[in-house]
Amino acid sequence: MNQNSQRPATLPSLPAGFNVAAEFPITRNWTFFNHAGVAPISARAAVEIERFAHEARDDAYLSGRWYHKIEQVRKLAAQFIHAQPEELAFVKNTSEGIAFVANGLDWKFGDEIISTAVEYPSNVYPWMDVSHRHGVKHIMLPETDGRIDRQTILNAVTPRTRMIALSHVEYASGFRHDIAAIGQFCRSRGILLCIDGIQACGVLPVDVRTMHIDFLSADGHKWLLGPEGAGIFYCRRELLLSLRPEIGWMNVINASDYGQYDFTLRTDARRFECGSHNIPGVLALGASIGLLVEVGMSTVTQRVLALNAQLCEGLEQKGYMIVSSRRPEETSGIVSFQSRRHNHAGIISSLEKQKIIIVEREGRLRASPHFYQNADDISRLLAALPD
Ligand SMILES: Cc1ncc(COP(=O)(O)O)c(C=O)c1O
Repeated sequence: MNQNSQRPATLPSLPAGFNVAAEFPITRNWTFFNHAGVAPISARAAVEIERFAHEARDDAYLSGRWYHKIEQVRKLAAQFIHAQPEELAFVKNTSEGIAFVANGLDWKFGDEIISTAVEYPSNVYPWMDVSHRHGVKHIMLPETDGRIDRQTILNAVTPRTRMIALSHVEYASGFRHDIAAIGQFCRSRGILLCIDGIQACGVLPVDVRTMHIDFLSADGHKWLLGPEGAGIFYCRRELLLSLRPEIGWMNVINASDYGQYDFTLRTDARRFECGSHNIPGVLALGASIGLLVEVGMSTVTQRVLALNAQLCEGLEQKGYMIVSSRRPEETSGIVSFQSRRHNHAGIISSLEKQKIIIVEREGRLRASPHFYQNADDISRLLAALPD
């Protein structure tokens, strides 16, 4: 281990009486380490979807509760990232929220967007499109040894820099940017900060206020343990009116006065919601966020980081090369590593036969455990990996 490595910490306990098998039935079938891909939904989320299915089948919308519940989830989700409910819109995925920013801002020829060359494509193509359509310069900074140094990002800033667009955690390396420091820098210079939050929300603390985030988008299907197709988009209150929304019937103040055609846009984040909600998706997302709040985000984070520290120690002992930064402040839910001896596809399929799931991303093996797993799960993975 080098001097920056993290020693495996003790695993903080789960709340008394927390029944892992009941809350996460997947544990009966799989040792699942791909929460950075598509995670299992929690049992509570599944209950919400089932309840919705039965209500929709038997009573349609007549219970009148669905939209009221959506507003409760909005409050909960906003609180979860330290935003106000008025700053939070539901989106169908991370890409949609990023597209709101890319398509909604008044870009000027010569504006510059700084990003990295290792973003998931949801945080690349929208900026390439802006660049082609508006003559904006899209700067993609390279990664070195699984890291993107903060100073490299700040050094790329010029008087034309309009936005920094980053994943809070990079999907293929697990590198965690110091968003609070970058955010402070951006705010002091009037540069916008747009965050792809899907690899952080639900596993690391995300505070849009103290991190000075202007826009954040995250679908619920990874660390938030919700289904695909229901996510959150945060827009800082002061910027709500500076994004031109996609227009439908629901973005206006009197949306239910169908025949009045009063085209007055809402002034809160619901101005971005152009039509009917993904009700089962949002309610399920709400149930999983509720679960994370109940467990406590600090317990969630500490458990995941401790599991990953155990994993890294074992990987090093077995001769694997760890790509993910092990500087404590740069760690995340993701551990990326490489075998010096074995073919990655072979490792993945042999693990799958043993009911253990990891994946490959960009030539690296990637493991991403969540809080409900334990040290035995990590030991099982380590034992199953070839020496
Ligand atoms: C960093 C990052 N952003 C976004 C996504 C997914 O985007 P969306 O929610 O639009 O499907 C992924 C999925 O792997 C990701 O790793």
